[in-house]
Amino acid sequence: MQILILNIKKLVQVEDKPLVWRAGKDMAKVNSIDNAFLLIDNGLIASFGPMANVPEFSSLSGDVLIYNAHGRIVFPSFCDSHTHLVYAGSREIEYINKIKGLSYEEIAKRGGGILNSARFLAQTSEDELYEQSLTRVNEIISKGTGAVEIKSGYGLTIESELKMLRVIRRLKETTPLTIKATFLGAHAVPAEYKGRQSDYVDLIINEMIPMVAAEDLADYIDVFCDRGFFTVEDTERILMAGIKYGLRPKLHANELDYSGGIQVGVKYNALSVDHLEYTGDAEIEALLGSETMPTLLPSAAFFLGMIDPPVRRMIEAGLPIALASDFNPGSSPSGDMKFIMSLGCIKLRMLPEEVINAATINGAYAMGLSETHGSICKGKVANVFITKPIPSIEYLPYAYTSDLIETVILNGKIIKN
Ligand code: NIG
Ligand code: FE
Repeated sequence: MQILILNIKKLVQVEDKPLVWRAGKDMAKVNSIDNAFLLIDNGLIASFGPMANVPEFSSLSGDVLIYNAHGRIVFPSFCDSHTHLVYAGSREIEYINKIKGLSYEEIAKRGGGILNSARFLAQTSEDELYEQSLTRVNEIISKGTGAVEIKSGYGLTIESELKMLRVIRRLKETTPLTIKATFLGAHAVPAEYKGRQSDYVDLIINEMIPMVAAEDLADYIDVFCDRGFFTVEDTERILMAGIKYGLRPKLHANELDYSGGIQVGVKYNALSVDHLEYTGDAEIEALLGSETMPTLLPSAAFFLGMIDPPVRRMIEAGLPIALASDFNPGSSPSGDMKFIMSLGCIKLRMLPEEVINAATINGAYAMGLSETHGSICKGKVANVFITKPIPSIEYLPYAYTSDLIETVILNGKIIKN
């Protein structure tokens, strides 16, 4: 099956050869073609170019669907490289406590937060967890996401962590999203291990990681390396154990303090370090020259009323930046990547081109997918969305609550129209 999209007002983020990522000054570059066509064949991007070069209809083989995009803009689908979208229930009661003045850490200390989600999850069957998560997956697909990373971490027991990871695997098998799974047993110390944190770290290393690997349930390993959660020493032990089983790190780091999480991530060649509100010169220095993608989650700081990371300094130093939604019940109950781009512009003072790169090609890198996703490039997976008629690419993050994503194509198939 082929789809030929004609009269595209602007075909955004086109590449001749797959880029690894966009960093520093290049983050402000987005290559586009005005008045373009895009040909999709068998799930992949087959060709594209200006309308003057559109292929002769007679040269196309088999079933061809012609889509006239007149006035509309075509983007590569969003690549959301950090989510916790498999969770049970919701936590709006904590939201009220936050409004009344309790901090994220205070809520966690009182047994709320991640431990609250762990209690809900333990009481929820695997089928029910799948259904709840599927609703969120369908929501983010309709909002333009084509690839997503999903973490475990609301299990915190062997049984419940495996339950979460099996749900992620089922979502991989049953939905058109490209999904990467991350094992995050070290998300919080469960109540039964209070005062015995190193015993819980032992459980993760000696039992959970081998079982996760035996069922091949995860692509990556994560640790919440921050004040009040896991230390740098805990993190090193867990990462070394995960790496032995082929799990590359992706870390939660420096959300609450200068935790050393960024440096330990770089030391173990993490694919990404995420959050990074507390990033200073030493952290920027550590990231420069590394293969680790600094990933920012502006909705979490926005929702919790916390400080923002020093993005302009990071980009000026030459770093790449990815943006992700952090979709989770405690600090970001939304996976809307268009809104994340708006927050990148409004709160972090990133330019529209910078947030487009951060939400597409750089997000793809942060999931190990930049060779197949994150741009319009021959041979890449045909994951794109077509906007409603809009005046410019800048309009997308600017009109920050308008639903502007009209048509979604994943793996070369129209999913929403
Ligand atoms: O990325 N920072 C740690 N974990 C999540 C929040 C999880 C929760 O509160 O449920 C985050 O913000
Ligand atoms: Fe997170």
